Amino acid sequence: MKAVTWHAIGDIRWEDVPDPRISQPYDAIVRITASAICGTDLHFVRGTMPGMREGRVLGHEAVGVVEEVGPGVRNLRAGDRVVAASTVACGFCAYCRAGCYAQCDNANPGGPLAGTVFFGGPEAAGGLDGFQAEYARVPYAHVGLVPLPDTVDDGQAVLLSDIYPTAWFGGRLAEVGAGDTVAILGGGPVGQAAVACARLQGAGRVLLVDGLDDRLDLARRQHAETVNFNEEDPVEAIRELTGGIGVDRVIDAVGVDAQHPAHGPAAVSEEERAQFERESRQAAPERRPDGDTWVPGNAPSQAARWAVQAVAKAGTIGTVGVYPPQVTSYPFGEAFMKNLTLRTGNCHHRRYLPELVSLVATGALDPGPLITQWPDTADVIDAYASFDRRESGWTKVALDFGGEGGMPHGFGRTAGSGAATTAGS
Ligand SMILES: NC(=O)c1ccc[n+]([C@@H]2O[C@H](COP(=O)([O-])OP(=O)(O)OC[C@H]3O[C@@H](n4cnc5c(N)ncnc54)[C@H](O)[C@@H]3O)[C@@H](O)[C@H]2O)c1
Ligand SMILES: [Zn+2]
Ligand SMILES: [Zn+2]
Repeated sequence: MKAVTWHAIGDIRWEDVPDPRISQPYDAIVRITASAICGTDLHFVRGTMPGMREGRVLGHEAVGVVEEVGPGVRNLRAGDRVVAASTVACGFCAYCRAGCYAQCDNANPGGPLAGTVFFGGPEAAGGLDGFQAEYARVPYAHVGLVPLPDTVDDGQAVLLSDIYPTAWFGGRLAEVGAGDTVAILGGGPVGQAAVACARLQGAGRVLLVDGLDDRLDLARRQHAETVNFNEEDPVEAIRELTGGIGVDRVIDAVGVDAQHPAHGPAAVSEEERAQFERESRQAAPERRPDGDTWVPGNAPSQAARWAVQAVAKAGTIGTVGVYPPQVTSYPFGEAFMKNLTLRTGNCHHRRYLPELVSLVATGALDPGPLITQWPDTADVIDAYASFDRRESGWTKVALDFGGEGGMPHGFGRTAGSGAATTAGS
């Protein structure tokens, strides 16, 4: 079959790989009909998340059709249309039963303390082949595959694998509740989805900070109050918009590849630049940029610093932007002095996925319009590069693997008319 594979930092390929096979009782083989590229995939190619094995199939966001199940999978049959959770969880350990699926005791072959397992990631994250492929093996498929109704199309459902659960989780981490003023840092897919999710969780006002005009425009189309960090100091702007108090909640949807402002009133001093440079070397000791492609973020702690400064005293920060273990810099003292609550981590996808499928099926939420590109699979490496460079208009890239059983994109769109959408219409 064809798949996107990781070979080295700065080197990914579209090539032939062996078909996956059932190897455990709780496995299923899924024929992928649609898959997507995520900001997380970029960390591996830029070098800000280490430990990938050569030849690993990338991708952790997919919709497909069940092809075959192992004897332990009793809730699915060949032919079922499903969305896959990005993280793997057994469903029977104490953590899974408590809804902490990302901390499952059994999913990681390295043992209970070895960390979250997700598809198409580093060896430490389970070393599983991913979903940017024609077929995939899904362990613990009875938990990780969620059936889809026909009113939810592939374009909507592929965003329920990771992006919307993560955005929802970000709101939950940040304790977003009725009437709260919420600032979202980062207007990538996760940040855009967080606008709609925070609203559904009761937010009274939603602000979004980014440095890219097209992403700010997308946020404004869903009526977030936008702040461009290259034009104004985002902390001052947020304070001014909130009567000097700051926001109640912050969702950090940026992570380790954060940038500092290129220019404008928040441009960094020489001292700050040197500090960020040290952090960036720590985050990505090995890097292989190709011109302006595959370049690691130049200010790993920038979003964290703004989060701590922009939130009100005794406020809450929910961090879903990824920070790998080698990153040790966080403005902890400043957070301590403000009595902040800091919550973070990998999303417990399976916890939120069924509820999100229902929200889309009933029309309360329409993720579909967030996908801005459906390149031909043969052009996927170029698409990766355009998405990496954050070219204007390249917000979210999905791949259509076609084949029988896929649901045409836009099919479910009427289900979402008048609904909370990510990208407006
Ligand atoms: N916790 C989880 O389980 C989980 C799941 C999915 C994604 N993620 C992470 O969420 C993050 C966002 O994912 P995405 O797909 O939206 O990525 P993305 O790279 O498309 O988006 C990041 C956005 O942040 C903006 N940005 C850069 N520096 C900034 C700064 N200092 N302040 C504000 N905005 C800034 C960029 O311009 C970009 O629009 C990534 O780190 C990804 O790995 C985490
Ligand atoms: Zn993802
Ligand atoms: Zn478990």
